[in-house]
Amino acid sequence: MEINAVRGTRDILPDENIKWQYIEHIVRNIFARYGYTEIKTPIFERTELFIRGIGETTDIVEKEMYTFLDRKGRSLTLRPEGTAGAIRAFLEHKMFASSPLTKLFYIGPMFRYERPQAGRYRQHTQIGAEALGSINPFVDAEIITMLINIFEHLGLKNLSVELNTVGCKECRPVYRDKLQEYLAASENELCEDCKNRLTRNPLRILDCKVSSCKEIVKNVPDIADSLCSDCQKHFDSVKKYLDLVEIKYIRNKFLVRGLDYYTKTVFEISYENLGAQNAVAAGGRYDNLIEELGGPSMPGIGFAMGIDRLVIAMDDQKISFPKEEVDVFLAIMGEEVAKYAFNLIHILRKNDIHAEVLYENKSLKNQFSYAGKIGSKFVIIAGENEVLKNIITIKNMETKQQSEVNLEEAIAIIKAQVDRLKV
Ligand code: HAM
Repeated sequence: MEINAVRGTRDILPDENIKWQYIEHIVRNIFARYGYTEIKTPIFERTELFIRGIGETTDIVEKEMYTFLDRKGRSLTLRPEGTAGAIRAFLEHKMFASSPLTKLFYIGPMFRYERPQAGRYRQHTQIGAEALGSINPFVDAEIITMLINIFEHLGLKNLSVELNTVGCKECRPVYRDKLQEYLAASENELCEDCKNRLTRNPLRILDCKVSSCKEIVKNVPDIADSLCSDCQKHFDSVKKYLDLVEIKYIRNKFLVRGLDYYTKTVFEISYENLGAQNAVAAGGRYDNLIEELGGPSMPGIGFAMGIDRLVIAMDDQKISFPKEEVDVFLAIMGEEVAKYAFNLIHILRKNDIHAEVLYENKSLKNQFSYAGKIGSKFVIIAGENEVLKNIITIKNMETKQQSEVNLEEAIAIIKAQVDRLKV
């Protein structure tokens, strides 16, 4: 029996990988402009990190983690997200001691046992960023601005930015009580999950997708009316900064996010055509997480975007991705010239030329047709005649012009035509 990829996982084939590489290339450049440097953390961590970090009553921890015991019986979990691991590393290496502000980014796979559907996988890849050490709303607005900058560079349009605040340790409990009281009146009409959430995590009811729950929450009290003055001021400032640079956002009072570490600002950027799974990026502030994971009292904020969904959105908008082009195809005529051809293609590549060859012995016609298929700009013919006369026969596939030149000239001709994407 054939063995296929596990449900919810998929292979990223070369044609799609070109898109991933392009996205990563753009994003890495933009991160550099904003002073974010890359961190790589392990794909699995102690389970406890996620329970403490993400929150015991979240869907992720309750039902979506890939948790297993290692051979010594320790509970480990494939990371469902990147923030907890990044903070663990930040603390473990005492990065806070050397700088008042640390800006990190990461790119890598995350694992969640969710119901697979279009744009939702059990292994997906995130590009995430975390800014650790500043409580200033400047950073909140800056991080959203950076995301918009990324999307603009990628050519993505028609995205909507949703913004909310979830308050802090002081004011959230007040809101939580208000919400609980309001929702208790309709407890029987809530879905089974939300009945549970009512006592454990009532804020999560606000973004339940079940239509009866959506109806019930329509007129819930707004958290904006329960904020402490600090959270109020913070939220106002974030909005002012965004207004200043003309970033359009929608205040969504139902936006609460599925991870418990958030405080104050939360946001989501979505693309409507993606359907049910329409968030391409999301994040928020987490001013208690670092301390909760055993570090100093230090604020943080970050976001992550899903590359899988970005690609779907870019394809939907028919955005073209620059492709590595083939500069020259080497047509080999006869086995006798194999050594000459091997050496020649080696020299071409050493000169930063993208050269392709078919290893099997095919007719010249066949080889030319293959060169056309891969879009090669030139064909060099390696035949006995060329070896004997020590010349290069080169044909420009566009102008059909063929000439006999020496090696240096051939390299110069090819290079004059090359405007390859430099990754
Ligand atoms: P999240 O909203 O759970 O946030 O995930 C971030 C993004 O990852 C989503 O907006 C989506 O694009 C993508 N994503 C999530 N789950 C899947 C999935 N099953 N299949 C495909 N794509 C998916 C976080 O993970 C937070 N750690 C973000 C953050 C960083 N907040 C602060 N810092």
